[in-house]
Amino acid sequence: MIRSQKTSLLAPLLRGSALVLFATFLGCGTLVAKDGAYEPMRGQAGKDVVWIPTPPELVTRMLEMAQVTKDDFVVDLGSGDGRIVIAAAREFGARGLGLEYDEKMVGFASRNAATAGVSGRVEFRQADIFKTDFSQADVVTMYLLPDLNLRLRSTLMAMTPGTRIVSHQFSMANWKLDETSWVQGRPAYLWIVPANAGGAWEATYSRKAGAAASIAFTLEQQFQELKGTAQLGDIRTSLRTPSLRGRELQFGFTDADGVLRQVTATIDGGRMQGRIAGPDGSSAFTAERKGEAPPVGGSAPVTGDELSNAMRQLGE
Ligand SMILES: C[S@@+](CC[C@H](N)C(=O)[O-])C[C@H]1O[C@@H](n2cnc3c(N)ncnc32)[C@H](O)[C@@H]1O
Repeated sequence: MIRSQKTSLLAPLLRGSALVLFATFLGCGTLVAKDGAYEPMRGQAGKDVVWIPTPPELVTRMLEMAQVTKDDFVVDLGSGDGRIVIAAAREFGARGLGLEYDEKMVGFASRNAATAGVSGRVEFRQADIFKTDFSQADVVTMYLLPDLNLRLRSTLMAMTPGTRIVSHQFSMANWKLDETSWVQGRPAYLWIVPANAGGAWEATYSRKAGAAASIAFTLEQQFQELKGTAQLGDIRTSLRTPSLRGRELQFGFTDADGVLRQVTATIDGGRMQGRIAGPDGSSAFTAERKGEAPPVGGSAPVTGDELSNAMRQLGE
């Protein structure tokens, strides 16, 4: 059952909980269609949050933001009537799994999938999202609550780099958004799970005019945000606008000869491989991490203090 919140962001879900009370008062918590089939009611109780469906236009936009393709496995956390997973299969050709605590909703979503002709590509499973492994997902979707998102954050951060996460309405505090879209005034947020780029790296690259060059550089990471410095002989310099999108890293630096160079590389565990470009053309760039990778800043489970701070900010 939903907790009481002042913020207008929670209004639709709060309206939902008011509906539950009204329905309970009328003695009709669950609706049964004329033909006897189960029909859910907007705002009906769920384990950690009530059922309110995401509008279809926003469902499509969320899947577009995640760039869903037929090769993706989409998991909706708290799948309700199944609409997100069904749309992923029907509109984008993806495979999908809906995790839903309410058994009746699981049956309802499965029937909706059959009606939509996508039963072969989707599955709905009765499960608690906090006790279920969904690490195989390429795309995770959710419409939950701010504190539930925060409780899931460390699990989401530990997913395969490049996994896309889209949330209707609620963000994840200081994990910076990669994209926001609004459809009819309702927001959806995208994050791309970052690789671990942190630590000390040593790189070599070849220059057109001259011998191979090497640099030592260090990256500090907080979620997907990076800061970095490079040591070029006795010169220490910051890296220019380092950025990370999944496993794809980019940064620039002014080398020891005063030449501006731009690196684009793919991180694979303790190695990165890519290209380095400068006025003399582009060449191969490889780097190896020296020592252990430090944990990614922000990847630890959210503490009680962080949770109450986030909830307080939301209520202001
Ligand atoms: C706000 S609805 C969103 C439904 C759907 N994802 C959508 O966007 O249309 C949240 C759903 O999560 C389900 N739910 C609540 N707590 C859950 C839990 N711990 N595990 C699985 N499902 C849960 C509710 O029953 C409800 O169907």
